[in-house]
Amino acid sequence: MDYNEAYKKLEKYGQLHVLKYYDELTDAEKEELLKQIEETDMEVLVSTAGKGGSNAKGKITPLSVMTLSEIESRKDEFTKAGIEAIKAGKVGAVLLAGGMGTRLGSDEPKGMYNIGLTKEVYIFERLIDNLMDVVNLTGAWIHLFVMTSDKNHEATTAFFKEKDYFGYNPDYITFFMQDMAPATDYEGKVYMEAKNRISTSPNGNGGWFLSMMKWGVADKVREAGIEWLNVFAVDNVLQRIADPCFVGAAILTGSDVGSKVVCKNAPDEKIGVMCLEDGKPSIVEYYELDDEMMNAKDDQGNPAYNYGVILNYLFREKALEEIAAKKLPLHIVEKKIPYIDADGNAVKPEEPNGYKYEQLVLDMIHELDSCLPYEVKRNYEFAPIKNRTGIDSVESARKLCQENGIEL
Ligand code: UTP
Repeated sequence: MDYNEAYKKLEKYGQLHVLKYYDELTDAEKEELLKQIEETDMEVLVSTAGKGGSNAKGKITPLSVMTLSEIESRKDEFTKAGIEAIKAGKVGAVLLAGGMGTRLGSDEPKGMYNIGLTKEVYIFERLIDNLMDVVNLTGAWIHLFVMTSDKNHEATTAFFKEKDYFGYNPDYITFFMQDMAPATDYEGKVYMEAKNRISTSPNGNGGWFLSMMKWGVADKVREAGIEWLNVFAVDNVLQRIADPCFVGAAILTGSDVGSKVVCKNAPDEKIGVMCLEDGKPSIVEYYELDDEMMNAKDDQGNPAYNYGVILNYLFREKALEEIAAKKLPLHIVEKKIPYIDADGNAVKPEEPNGYKYEQLVLDMIHELDSCLPYEVKRNYEFAPIKNRTGIDSVESARKLCQENGIEL
């Protein structure tokens, strides 16, 4: 893209200030900036005019969950079907590790965080150990696809290599990168990170399958004969990955997607809630949950929306191909965005100062006709690390790991 084309593109989106320092830049810096302008998707800025409008909801009704007792009564049958599928190479796993983990506040990728007390125990290591349990049980390696972003790709891949993939077979680990979206101030003006760089951030965890397609990784999935992809977050250090019982339950119930859920510990717990929206499966984020939904009761007098998602989904690969053609809604999230001020000095804000634009994996569920919400024991499978201390933190996750006999 040359200067004139870049100018036209920025003019169209009302972002000409991006070229403010252009004349001061070296030739190489000019080239970098023009390339970034070309590659940055500015449509997000248009489709979100009027901020927050994309999060409107339809008619919400309860969705029944496969509870622990039902799972227990069919455990052997489910587990057998799951093990068979895993042995046949039909199950892969996708680690979503492209996020910035700003709440944890580490400069390194979240998975590189050491939660150990007497020895080193990295978040990535815990996840690989969990997956190894299934490899050991089934005798089959499970393809692991790791999504990174422009901000952490180098560090993540180098770390896995340095740690010898924590004992996993590197032939079964594939890295791919997600796309970036511009970050803006509250008026929708793109921030500059440097005189020759727009502030961008990873575009949310909803684009993972599109990114797999873009990187040719989805072809690899098809060629390998993988029929199910278990997508999971980097921060839940207790979660079971490619869990045979969960896999079997999704297969035997003919589901397009399964979602692990936990019984909420309080009506206002900060966790997305499973429900039906206009008759289709859906997840209402905790910040969108109103009092009516929080206090609604079912026929037996139990809370009607009592199960929250833990970001562990099992998608049928064919269903993902269908979803890929659809456009997911955009979420506008208030965040702290580093930028350069009017004098060109770098600023690292202490408080949120603008918006990031994200698509979310939870919106993929609503594109499908059915979903199997599958309950898991929260103290055994849910130890998310979002913060250093307090709720959903390194501290709380350590405690839960220890309760489960994991040495730290
Ligand atoms: P979070 O919602 O916790 O976001 O991501 P985050 O950006 O990592 O953390 P904060 O909000 O800045 O503290 C849930 C999961 O989705 C992944 C994260 O890596 C995590 O596994 N994710 C999030 C991506 O892979 N890409 C994204 O753009 C955002």
